[in-house]
Amino acid sequence: MDSNKPVTRILAIETSCDETACAIIENGRALLSSVVASQMEIHARYGGVFPEVASRQHVLAVTPVVEQALAQAHLTLNDIDAIAVTQGPGLAGSLVVGMNMAKGMALGMGKPLIGVNHLEGHLYSAWVYDAGELVPPEPQFPLMALLVSGGHTELNLMTDHLTYQRLGSTLDDAAGEAFDKVARLLELPYPGGPSIQKTAEEGDPRRFNFARAWLDGTWNFSFSGLKTSVLYEVRELKKRSNSLPIPDLAASFQQAVIDVLFKKTMNAAREFGAKEILVAGGVSANRPLRQVFKAQTEFPVHIPPLVLCTDNAAMIASAGYFRHSLGHTSGLEMDVLPTWPLSQI
Ligand code: KG4
Ligand code: ZN
Repeated sequence: MDSNKPVTRILAIETSCDETACAIIENGRALLSSVVASQMEIHARYGGVFPEVASRQHVLAVTPVVEQALAQAHLTLNDIDAIAVTQGPGLAGSLVVGMNMAKGMALGMGKPLIGVNHLEGHLYSAWVYDAGELVPPEPQFPLMALLVSGGHTELNLMTDHLTYQRLGSTLDDAAGEAFDKVARLLELPYPGGPSIQKTAEEGDPRRFNFARAWLDGTWNFSFSGLKTSVLYEVRELKKRSNSLPIPDLAASFQQAVIDVLFKKTMNAAREFGAKEILVAGGVSANRPLRQVFKAQTEFPVHIPPLVLCTDNAAMIASAGYFRHSLGHTSGLEMDVLPTWPLSQI
């Protein structure tokens, strides 16, 4: 970091789904602390996120998580220049907990408040590095950004900071949602993505040639047909045997998702003259997906470290910094936005 540059520290809060998170970042990239209280074990009992339970857990966790983030960074609120918070998309009852905490802090401290789009946060996770570690190269524009999370699958061309052209998105299920649904079908534990990845390690990805929706001529995605073709295969197999080849089914499904995500992103990067590629969101934690992007040599690729792929507040702090530095602040009257596409910010 340029030692003459004034230091701006953002504290961010993220409570859009089932993780209560707080992080502090310096000048948009250098992470001083990041705390994530996961509710995964609680929701695993229900096989998915139970919204009412999620918001009540956020109420319990949000204050200790903020205190822990400050303690880990050896800072007090006096050292913080602005508060960023996830405004949406997400579960309204969860978002509102983080939002009210952030509003209270901003009001009490007399500091600016910045509402951040959760999807924009996922993209900015690629800018974050641990303070004190070697500074990784900064993503360069124009950037082809593949966003693959539990709720969204989108290709965005980023021509500059905070500037997105949405080229396409899923017409039905998001990639992460498909992982979760197919995991349930194969009776693998929640959350589905990591379960499928683990089971697939023992499987043959070529055993079943599941449907791949290319949707040629568009940059959209579709994963519901793939999910249905796994369902039909399972039904056929069950007619013949009681024991299903779960690892082969998981590996073949995972391969089909990766093939589509990888080829469409590469084609879009070529077509729109992107300099580099960025992959972010929960599904970017998938090891074979990461390997396939890292193995190609045509474009430099940025994929956040594993801890920053799934929901966290470091990414919200980073996006918040870039918004703050361009003068985008929000008033205390701002509301949650449970649906908020990147193309509308
Ligand atoms: O970004 P994220 O944490 O939350 C949303 O904003 O949606 O993404 C969660 C999604 C879930 O669907 C989960 O199954 C998937 O990311 N996921 C994975 C992996 N780890 C998490 N999918 C495939 N492979 C993984 N290793
Ligand atoms: Zn997310």
